Amino acid sequence: MKYTPIKNELYITNRKNFVKHLKPKSVAVFNSNDQMPTNADGTMPFRQNNDLLYLSGIDQEESILVIFPDAINPKHREILFVKETSDLIAIWEGAKLTKEQATQQSGIETVYWTSQFEQIFHGLTTEAEHIYLNQNEHLRASSPVETRDDRFRKSCQAKYPLHEYERLAPIMRKLRPIKSSLEIDMIQQACNITEKGFRRLLKFVKPGVMEYEIEAELAHEFLMNRSRGFAYEPIIASGFNACVLHYVENNKECKAGDVILLDVGAEYGNYASDLTRCVPVSGKFTPRQKEVYNAVLRVMRAATSMLVPGTLHDEYHTKVGEVMEAELIGLGLLDKNEVAKQDPKNPLYKKYFMHGTSHHLGLDVHDVEERNRPFEAGMVLTVEPGIYIREENLGIRLENDVLITNNGPIDLMKNIPIEADEIEALMA
Ligand code: GLY
Ligand code: MN
Ligand code: MN
Repeated sequence: MKYTPIKNELYITNRKNFVKHLKPKSVAVFNSNDQMPTNADGTMPFRQNNDLLYLSGIDQEESILVIFPDAINPKHREILFVKETSDLIAIWEGAKLTKEQATQQSGIETVYWTSQFEQIFHGLTTEAEHIYLNQNEHLRASSPVETRDDRFRKSCQAKYPLHEYERLAPIMRKLRPIKSSLEIDMIQQACNITEKGFRRLLKFVKPGVMEYEIEAELAHEFLMNRSRGFAYEPIIASGFNACVLHYVENNKECKAGDVILLDVGAEYGNYASDLTRCVPVSGKFTPRQKEVYNAVLRVMRAATSMLVPGTLHDEYHTKVGEVMEAELIGLGLLDKNEVAKQDPKNPLYKKYFMHGTSHHLGLDVHDVEERNRPFEAGMVLTVEPGIYIREENLGIRLENDVLITNNGPIDLMKNIPIEADEIEALMA
């Protein structure tokens, strides 16, 4: 763990809010993610399950969190199971959390070894009527891989078929979108690290550099600042590559006259930041590139001002589409008369701006959300309009991370250069 752990008051408060959503006599079980294999004896870097993390702060594999507010034994109202450690294990596998450290990190008094789970849990099932289990219900999740939660669901339902089963995911997508001040601090820290990386690359980019060399500059800066690295696969797309929305090869040479689209955010302490900037390889935009750039910037600013409590996500996206439409007409890319006749369900602007404007951001880059819930203070969303003109080998997207408050939106990336003139000046 490279980051400074968050104070356990975050997790204590999160659990207090969580239990309000359980039915009486309910036990909830959260499993950590697996340590994923690669080949032979190789493993991927461990990435904790975000729901377990949100409620406990325990960033270690083979952990289980059990919450049972009506347990007869008060010690069993919150239980953490962690991988057994000992002096011998510490020599061979490296230090794992002691029970005391697990309590310190989570604020949970009762800690057992994971090997004791079955026996303890069996006792709890004799008192519980409802068992809440977890599943990845993210709208865009497409995972063919079985998680520990998936495996536990199967074994639990086979062993205890007569209990009432309930879903944890609807509760978690109600709680997680509202960020507390400790979480906002973490996201801000991730944004600040991203800023350092971006300022570094402005001095580095010149004709002839390879996209992966820019990636390396960013990775260096991120790691130097206690980040584990990129919060998601970075997109470093010069010229036409910027029109390929999920371009992640990052293996081409950056050519004079092209613009590079950089969608590159650092993570910090498992929280994501999500930035997109576009910079000219030669240090100066052409008049046409600047024209498109400024159109996207105006859309971004208009969209940001719409991030206020009470607005529905879909209504917001429709309004942003109208602003974008006007800009595309101004750029000569859409015809006013054609737009007047367009099918409102399939607006013409989608030819140049074909993705969403915003998504929630937090422990996940595309954080969990309730799509039909109006915006509220405490939500953090990205704002990321783009215009992709394949015939001009030009893709411009600008993306900042914004906190919604009752006193207007707060741009967590306001210090990251975005004006075309400022970017040119910093590259000079
Ligand atoms: N970097 C992923 C996104 O912008 O949604
Ligand atoms: Mn994004
Ligand atoms: Mn992005």
